[in-house]
Amino acid sequence: MEPVGIDAVEVWTGKLKLDLPDTFAPQKGEDPDKYRKGIGLVGSSFPDLHEDIVTMGANAAKRLMDRTGLTPEDIGRIDVATESAFDNSKPVSTYVAGCLEQYFDGEFRHANKGERKFACVAGTQSIDDAYNWIRAGRNRGRAALVIATDTALYARGDPGEATQGAGAVAMLIDEDPDLVEISTEQGYGSMDETDFLKPNQQFPSVDGKRSVQVYLSRMREAVEDFESVAWDLHPDDFASVPFHTPFPGMVRKAALLGYRHMSRDTEIEDALAGEIGRQPREADYASREAYEEAISEYTDALKQTEQYQSWYDRTIEPTLTISRQVGNWYTGSVHIARIAALQYAAEEDRNLAGEKLLVGSYGSGAQAEIHAETVQPNWETEIAQLNVDAQLRARYDLSYSEYEQVHDSHNHEKGTVDIDDFTEPSDEFVFTGWGRMNER
Ligand code: HMG
Repeated sequence: MEPVGIDAVEVWTGKLKLDLPDTFAPQKGEDPDKYRKGIGLVGSSFPDLHEDIVTMGANAAKRLMDRTGLTPEDIGRIDVATESAFDNSKPVSTYVAGCLEQYFDGEFRHANKGERKFACVAGTQSIDDAYNWIRAGRNRGRAALVIATDTALYARGDPGEATQGAGAVAMLIDEDPDLVEISTEQGYGSMDETDFLKPNQQFPSVDGKRSVQVYLSRMREAVEDFESVAWDLHPDDFASVPFHTPFPGMVRKAALLGYRHMSRDTEIEDALAGEIGRQPREADYASREAYEEAISEYTDALKQTEQYQSWYDRTIEPTLTISRQVGNWYTGSVHIARIAALQYAAEEDRNLAGEKLLVGSYGSGAQAEIHAETVQPNWETEIAQLNVDAQLRARYDLSYSEYEQVHDSHNHEKGTVDIDDFTEPSDEFVFTGWGRMNER
């Protein structure tokens, strides 16, 4: 069976930036270290006035198709994953295809176009759909284009405001991929939850603290489910562990619980026993509360150990380097974590070919998904084509009052706030009114 996975990727960041420690924190009367160290973000990306989810997605896809020499006829399906959709009928992929057809000499006339929604996990679900379509033999030799694009905004004053972001990731799913092969095995943790939702409203209603606990619970269930169909995980099985990253502080919590789970009953637990004791077993405690207290103490001690710290530095920290500068991209978030990890390995001259990634996706509402990926021999050539750092450096740095204007302009009344673009469009699709995207 030919491997199926991610063949190529491209990224488009919103072209504006809000500096959280230096611009946002003073206005909120907060210590800049809450953002730098606690939440773990130093910047957020925002779309310029001429950008939205369609232009960001189309610009990422245009770059990807230009670079790989693909024409629309080579693509058999386009799925857009987003939780920022503006049309309840036409999928965003039709708008994106319309843009791309203006530029490329060809049409997506025989492609299946759709839109996937399940909060942030929809990007990974779209990859699943493409994977299954190829595995079922329905692709007629064609590849699938998956685009994860979002403008993640919260109401001003909401605690989530610090975690905003905007950007798109375009991914080509194909046989014999250059970047990563995706495992057949998957694990899920899924439950009806109401901690983060947007029923016909622009900004989410969020119970932030609870959303953190729901993320951890669903992720734990997904890991256990994955283990039931794949193998018992060990921390050293993986070169990197990219998670959905609403903000790096969330991933720090998930990573610690994941490491504790994976190191249970292994030589790691044995080696640490003299230093911090053994992991508490529930059967040894008279009540659930007593057990939870013991496990919480053990986890705090585990976090300080050299074993955990060096695992974290190797497998988790490198996944956060882009996220730290751009905030939450919702559906694209776990996919920039993967890119960050691979870029870091390339910079460090680490050859990852044949090594495994453990990928943890999550969407509020709520569902977590876990699968493994195997890095392919051509990964380094593919990842070297990206210009993420240059894009991040080129962003326009907003003052706080400019940020407020941009925030106002990107609501449902987009186009009615009278301010000018902050950056000059160059060789890209731009927003010119609902339903109309032009190349400029
Ligand atoms: P908050 O309540 O303002 O922050 O917002 P906090 O007071 O909890 O502080 C955050 C961290 O900074 C804490 O660390 C503080 O101790 C630390 P922790 O205890 O958690 O380890 N801190 C400092 N550290 C150093 N120096 C200082 C300092 N001050 C504080 N001076 C909250 C946090 C998560 C509630 C907020 O950001 C929020 O509501 N975010 C939106 C919801 C969210 O992102 N939830 C994450 C899980 S749900 C998810 O991922 C799905 C999502 O992506 C959507 C989707 O799927 O569609 C959101």
